[in-house]
Formats: sequence, structure tokens, C-alpha cells
Amino acid sequence: MARIFIISNRVATPQAGLHPGGLEVVLKATLKNHPCVWLGWSGEIKRHPKTHTVRKGDNVFIVSDLTKEDFEEYYNGFANRVLWPILHYRLDLAEFSRRDLTGYLRVNDHFADEMVKVLKPDDIVWVHDYHLIPLARALRARGLTNRIGFFLHIPMPPPEIITAMPNHENLIPSLCHYDLVGFQTDNDAANFARYLANELGTPSHISRRLGTGERAMRLGVFPVGIETRQFARMARRAEKTEMVQKVKDSVPGALVIGVDRLDYTKGITLRLEAYERFLAANPQWHGKVTYLQITPKSRSQIPEYADIEQVVNAAAGRINGAFGDASWSPMRYVNRPYGRTALAGLYRAARAALVTPLRDGMNLVAKEYVAAQDPADPGVLILSRFAGAAVEFRDGALLVNPYDPDAVGAAIARAMEMPGDERRRRHASLYAALLKNDIAEWGDKFLSALVGSKSFNLEKAGRQSQDRSLRH
Ligand code: G6P
Repeated sequence: MARIFIISNRVATPQAGLHPGGLEVVLKATLKNHPCVWLGWSGEIKRHPKTHTVRKGDNVFIVSDLTKEDFEEYYNGFANRVLWPILHYRLDLAEFSRRDLTGYLRVNDHFADEMVKVLKPDDIVWVHDYHLIPLARALRARGLTNRIGFFLHIPMPPPEIITAMPNHENLIPSLCHYDLVGFQTDNDAANFARYLANELGTPSHISRRLGTGERAMRLGVFPVGIETRQFARMARRAEKTEMVQKVKDSVPGALVIGVDRLDYTKGITLRLEAYERFLAANPQWHGKVTYLQITPKSRSQIPEYADIEQVVNAAAGRINGAFGDASWSPMRYVNRPYGRTALAGLYRAARAALVTPLRDGMNLVAKEYVAAQDPADPGVLILSRFAGAAVEFRDGALLVNPYDPDAVGAAIARAMEMPGDERRRRHASLYAALLKNDIAEWGDKFLSALVGSKSFNLEKAGRQSQDRSLRH
């Protein structure tokens, strides 16, 4: 039987559950629809790394431990200190070293070796995110002819930024070894096409043929969504839980919510500044609004992440010190992660959400906040124009420039004062956009584009893939 073979750095094994970040949530929907093998890092660092296999129903999870060097060079190093900042337009934060690049390529080779052991000719391979850009090249070098697709969950910046990355000319064109490369937005795909045109001279709008082979790389746009109706249902139920009721009862007046991994791309510091400006300009709201910022820690061993932690802590303390009194704290800042059900309930309880990343591939918090609202009395989404979600949410959200705290502060005031009619109208438009792009179909849209058919049929795709491997 043909299978979908997924590879990503993080794997949501049945034991590990979900980790903060959109990728795993998104892939779960594909696992429900098809028999899948999901391969990646176990999340463990071991002196003598092993690979473990776990089965659950039709799905198989294969996870490898990393050595300390792998973790330092591949994960903390090249993936998160070079690719992450650069792909988020932050050249100023990139720390390149040849050693890290070597580690990154070594771990990609390791995953390719693990795959070769278990991959069948009719498997359809789907690689995810910036940790694994050169994986198709490594697989082709091992003689694999399977269909291989790649989806980038984070932004693709313009070529003027990518070309500043040392060794980009070796790494970025290696994406051409995939059959299909998918992006979140038109803008990301266009940036990549322009890179190919500038650097390799390929036509900017389309595919690239590799040598005389029959394989041509195609580009596509597949914005990730959420399970809208399920999330809405979860929020309705969660609203009644003791935890959410307690939060509601403990907040005088309106709740404003922000939920982000602690990451410099999320714009948390500037957002706090915006809230400060809102409080300074709107004394009538003192004592009547509480901003809850939930920020689980992430990648804490990387210096830029430790720095942002201190800055955000200090800003939260400053706001409470300057504006709070004995009976009211204008903001609550928590670092612990919350489960999806609890978050769904808190979103529903919040009069506004602040989703103001400086740059973001999509941002599923924005989508989940919209899904969680009560349509009869919905909250307002304040959304950065630099999040991928802004494309679909242009009409219903209050779009803001996250670099302009005065404007974001003014948007908070507008959200607080927005009449019910306008809130309902905006929410209806946002919710309609969500329904148009449900995650249940997202995987199949990508996979059918990968195999070049109108709809996705795994058996048929598997047979085609096998024929292709026999021809080689
Ligand atoms: C983003 C990335 C994911 C990543 C997640 C969490 O959403 O696109 O690939 O898994 O952040 O980051 P972490 O480094 O903890 O895996």
C-alpha cells in the first residue's frame, strides 16, 4: 500500500503530543486522512543516538536522537541562527559559521540515510520547513526517484536578502531537486522565483527543468489553515471550563490576548510598547482592560532568545509598575504553555487579540482566535500586515504596521470601542475566509499538485510513482 512519507524536524509522536508552533498541528490533519510515515528528530540529545519506531493505527513514527554536536550545529546553529533570522528578514541577527553549515548538511544526510532504509518506491515524500532544505538533493544522490515535495512554513524573503547568506548559491538552488516547492503566500513564491531568475537565469514565473531529466520543479502557493469548525466547537466547550471562568472572573472589564512563542520575530516588545501608548493615551480604560500575554519559551539556549526574554520581562514589569494600582494590573505575562483547549476558551473570552509579528509565514493564532469567537458577540483581531494571514484577513481584521506602536495603540482603542455591528460584520468576513481554506483539504491540495492531478488518490499516485522509479 502506498504511503505519505512526511519528514520534519519536529514529530508529534503519540507519546510526545503537540509542541508549540503551527507545523505539527497542520500535519496532524494529513495523518488522519492517509496512512503516513512521519520521520524526524526525537527531541532527545544522546551521546549514542538511536532511531526509534512507534506505530499507531495506520501511521508509523520514526524518530532519531541527535548528538550534542548535531543539536548545536544543525538545530541551534545553522537552522535557528542563520536560516530562521534570514528567512524572517533579520540579516542583522544571523550568525554564520562553516561548522554549523557542515552540521546542518550532516544531519540532512543522516535523515536521508534513515529514509533510504524504509522508503518504498510507491511512497510519496513530503518534506517540511527550513531545517530540511537540502534533503531532496541528498535523497536524489542516493538514487531515489520518488515524488518529493517541500513546503516552507516560514517566509521566503526577497533575493536581495537571501543572497547575503554565505553559501546561499549552494543551498537555495538545492530546492530544485524537489518536484514541487510550496509557499504560504504569493509574495513568498514570487520572491523565490525572482531568486531563481536572478541567480540561475530561469524564467521567473515558473518551473525549472533539471538538465535533460524529465523532472521539473514547480512552485505553488498553499496557505495553511486550521480545522475551523472543530476549533469553534472546542472554544464553545472550553469557555465553560473552570480555568477560563476563573480568568474571566479575575479580570476587571475587557480581556486582550496575545499568544506567541517567545521569539524576536513575533514583535512582542513593540507590542508591549503599543499597549503602553494605548494606556497613556486612554486613561478612561484604566482599570477596565487587562492584557494577557501567553508566551511559552523556545530555543532558550540561543543568545538572541535569552535577550528577548529579559527585554519582555522588563517591559511587562514597567507597564504594571507605571499604570497599575493595588486593585488592577494592566497586564499579565506568563511563560508557561497552555493546551489547545484552554487557549480556545481564552480566545473566546477575549475582546481583542494582538497578533503583531514583525514577519510571519502564516500565523495560526490569528486564525484560531477568529474561529473561537462567538459570532453574536465577537472580539476584534488586530493583525500585523506582515503576517501571511493578512492576505486572507485583509477585510475583517484591523491591519497594523507592527513597527508603529502609536498606530497599534490606536488600533487597540478602536477595538475596545468598536460597536457590535461592526464587530459582527468583520467577524463574518474573517470566518468566511477561514471556511474557504480549511486545513482538512490543505494536505490533499498540496499532494495532488505534487503528483500533478486534479484530486489526490493515494493508490493511483503510488502506482505512478512506482512506474517512474522503474523507468529510471
Ligand atoms: C515554527 C517553525 C516550525 C517549528 C516551530 C517551533 O512554527 O515553522 O518548524 O517546529 O516554529 O520551533 P522549535 O524550534 O521549537 O521546533
